[in-house]
Amino acid sequence: MVAKSKTKPPIDVAELTKAQAKVELMRLALELEGHDKRYYQNDAPSITDAEYDALRQRFNAIEKRFPEFVSSDSPSQKVGAAPSGRFRKVRHAVPMLSLDNAFAEQDVLDFVGRIERFLKLSDDKIAFSAEPKIDGLSMSLRYEGGELVTAATRGDGAEGEDVTANIRTLEDVPKKLKGRNVPEICEVRGEVYMTKKAFLALNDRQRVAGDTVFANPRNSAAGSLRQKDPSITASRPLGFFAYAWGEMSAMPEDTQSGMIGWFQRCGFTTNPLTKLCHSVEQLIAFHRKIEEQRAELDYDIDGVVYKVDRIDWQERLGFVSRTPRWAIAHKFPAERAMTVLRDIEIQVGRTGSFTPVGKLEPVGVGGVIVQNVTLHNEDYIKGIGGDGEQLREGRDIRIGDTVVIQRAGDVIPQVVDVIIDKRPKNARVFQFPKKCPCPLHTDVVREETATGEEGARARCTGEFACPFQKIEHLKLFASRRAFDIDGLGEKQIQFFFEQGWVKEPADIFTLPARNNRIKLEEHEGYGETSVRNLFGAIESRRRISLERFIFALGMRQVGETTALALARGYGSWQSFHDACLAVAKDDEETIAEMDALDQIGDTVIASIKAYFGESHNRGIVERLTREVTILDAEKPKSNSAVAGKTVVFTGSLEKMTRDEAKATAERLGAKVAGSVSKKTDYVVAGPGAGSKLAEAKKHNVAVLTEDEWLKLIGE
Ligand code: IVH
Repeated sequence: MVAKSKTKPPIDVAELTKAQAKVELMRLALELEGHDKRYYQNDAPSITDAEYDALRQRFNAIEKRFPEFVSSDSPSQKVGAAPSGRFRKVRHAVPMLSLDNAFAEQDVLDFVGRIERFLKLSDDKIAFSAEPKIDGLSMSLRYEGGELVTAATRGDGAEGEDVTANIRTLEDVPKKLKGRNVPEICEVRGEVYMTKKAFLALNDRQRVAGDTVFANPRNSAAGSLRQKDPSITASRPLGFFAYAWGEMSAMPEDTQSGMIGWFQRCGFTTNPLTKLCHSVEQLIAFHRKIEEQRAELDYDIDGVVYKVDRIDWQERLGFVSRTPRWAIAHKFPAERAMTVLRDIEIQVGRTGSFTPVGKLEPVGVGGVIVQNVTLHNEDYIKGIGGDGEQLREGRDIRIGDTVVIQRAGDVIPQVVDVIIDKRPKNARVFQFPKKCPCPLHTDVVREETATGEEGARARCTGEFACPFQKIEHLKLFASRRAFDIDGLGEKQIQFFFEQGWVKEPADIFTLPARNNRIKLEEHEGYGETSVRNLFGAIESRRRISLERFIFALGMRQVGETTALALARGYGSWQSFHDACLAVAKDDEETIAEMDALDQIGDTVIASIKAYFGESHNRGIVERLTREVTILDAEKPKSNSAVAGKTVVFTGSLEKMTRDEAKATAERLGAKVAGSVSKKTDYVVAGPGAGSKLAEAKKHNVAVLTEDEWLKLIGE
């Protein structure tokens, strides 16, 4: 919904009560967000700079008076997830991915074990580069001919923001690489951070000046980098540690530790605690030692990172979806804090599932202010776990209780305990709703588990009638991850839905044609330019990739990765849609074919069946497909002989592990399936192959030995 700006004169900040301040901060945050979007993304501000500055100053002044309300998603703390539009967008030549996390020592053992099995090494020992995990902002610095040409933030990993002018002010970043014979193109990656001392001093200065006070050094580093005026960045002491690379026209070294040495020779600072380790014991000892030093270090770290040292092995190991197989972040234990649970609210999700959310007295933990905490489900509140086991020794959670919450890295905060001694007499047992809080008050049921027992998750039975579910689906549909329609965020969807203008996805695309009746430009918060921009954004999304389209349908169990697997598996909307309709009619052959696709199994198929089994959903899809053009899935780029082919591995392989064989085939653009069908192109059979070999013969599929396969792929 669009917030209003011209109402009663605002109350003086000094006179605001705590409750008024909280509401006012939320209102201003919404309003600022809308103005930022109109200004930076649509180039269509609806207020003057002076009016905008006044709003921001008021926001900052209230946060300054009530620092307990500074939350990590406050406008003063923006740590750019998606590019904001304030800076030019930069597409990363090599995506900036993230790391998988290990928390327990066993996770580290598993990580090393996985690598050993994958590489199937006989005598070679694996060395690891062990490095502190700096809690800052990752940055990609591109050098051409030795000169710094672009500095880009991570953004969403594919596209970041161009902060070159600001990065040039950092002492740790050479404008020209030292040394002769540096490769023509070098992308040096690492972390921008602010020291704890500089952070405290900066906050003192900001407080005196009535400016933004940052919640932690990471946010202050982000805020300092996102300045439009580089001289402000220059006045903020930021450091940079180099630890990785992106595109390189040539590799100067063949190990991670060698690359770190090369970064130093080029003029970069690298982290002095980095160490080469040769066993799991050494990795764990490194973790312990760094954890002991953590408090004394002048920069924040949230764990350590282990990376396979040999780059040729890193390449063999490759990536599993968005994280490398060759590296892991071993996090430090979560930080905990105690606070009071003020209330419990129910959130209704896109698929009608209920999530109770604990509303907390705001508390700082692990560097951010936490005010909401998920309470998962009814049983969790009662102290019962997923398998019926006791949680918190059976202690239930009541409104008014003092609870211990924990937050580890980016993980959502959790309630780990309840302090019974502090339970007030009037603590209230939460009555889980029997009716959906939506205006229809539909009944709530508890889901069945796969085994037919009563599950923990409660769900509204309203299905398509429940407006909460419809809104949540529309929000997902327009979101960055799906149709990515600029100017159609959660608040706008809510507003358009409440007005009755957009009730299902197809309505978004018919909105411009209906505007002669709606007259959006006459509504608060809109003007001619912003409406033109919104309609332009809608038009520009009429062409959509198959995987985004499948994801945007909002089927349960079909997240982005599954949508991609389905899109690659079927190639076109026509064949996917035909398959879905056949699955809904229980067509066995189509179900078997879908099941044979990599990453697709019973749960996904059951969900597709349920979705396309409903005529209401088929109608939504049909009306939507009339409005958009769905592009065929990208053909694998590889020119390998196996690109686009479907392969099944069976029996034991001798030259590589099954995982490695699968990863290599996928890297070359082949699809690896779990079972043989008439669509299979090759069955690679090692000793001990059984029924799949028989299936291959039945369907006349080419059977290869491991050596023949290796020859085919050119290895
Ligand atoms: S290596 C393919 N090394 O952690 C990923 N990352 O969770 C390459 N980080 O986005 C990253 N210290 O911002 C690497 N020594 C280090 C790091 C480090 C901090 C951050 C980085 C990355 C995040 C991944």
